[in-house]
Amino acid sequence: MNEPPKLTNTEAISAWSQVSPEMVANFGDEGDFTRRYLLNPALFALLGDVAGKAVLDAGCGQGYLCRMLAKRGAAVTGVEFADAWYAYAAQREQAEPLGIHYLQADLSTWPGLPEMFDSVIANMVLMDIPDYLPALHTCVASLKRGGELIVSLLHPCFEEPGAAWKEKGYVEVREYFQERPVAQTYGYFIHRPLSAYLNSIIQAGCQIQRIIEPQLEESVAREHHAERYWHVPGYVVISAVKS
Ligand SMILES: C[S@@+](CC[C@H](N)C(=O)[O-])C[C@H]1O[C@@H](n2cnc3c(N)ncnc32)[C@H](O)[C@@H]1O
Repeated sequence: MNEPPKLTNTEAISAWSQVSPEMVANFGDEGDFTRRYLLNPALFALLGDVAGKAVLDAGCGQGYLCRMLAKRGAAVTGVEFADAWYAYAAQREQAEPLGIHYLQADLSTWPGLPEMFDSVIANMVLMDIPDYLPALHTCVASLKRGGELIVSLLHPCFEEPGAAWKEKGYVEVREYFQERPVAQTYGYFIHRPLSAYLNSIIQAGCQIQRIIEPQLEESVAREHHAERYWHVPGYVVISAVKS
């Protein structure tokens, strides 16, 4: 097998910055379909009552989760690097203030805010960062002791997009063990084996508490022609506590 191409954080971020302003604005106040039906229920089940808690949304995109958390009473900080997404999040906060503090930074080089947060969430972010280990370590360093780290990912075992399921009715897996960039709508995500994420969370000083593979309800799957997510998970959500 040929050596896979290497990707830098700058190249990955630059792809995220190419997204059109319409797409950023139309992402939805509770995120897209995936977030509304699969990720948000898992995230909020893990988080419980966030009122009065300090929460970091690491790689917050256009800030939909920051706003949901702030409306539930959390003190929220969002970190995002790509101009288009950061600008939208900051402009929404200016127009409708919820007390969210946004920072524009690369999570891999950002020094973090040591032991500041009760919860740190990296929602669909780590697989988009080529140099993900420093970003993960900064997330953990920013947690208070006993605080919760929540990482959601494109499920590394079943990454093929939902559209492929519609034609085939199954998910194909190839070269599972090889870390490599995989083209997606905007730039690339990095495929890594699931064990890479689980072990790096443990090595960063956390104890894994719970893993959710969100399953779509059958009725929702049928209504939205998204049967794949009733049969095979597309995402995995990992909850861990800083020791
Ligand atoms: C799939 S999006 C998820 C956004 C948001 N968490 C959500 O769920 O809507 C990945 C986000 O991570 C951001 N990102 C990628 N690499 C980053 C980095 N090194 N530092 C900060 N943000 C980064 C991208 O710009 C993008 O907004």
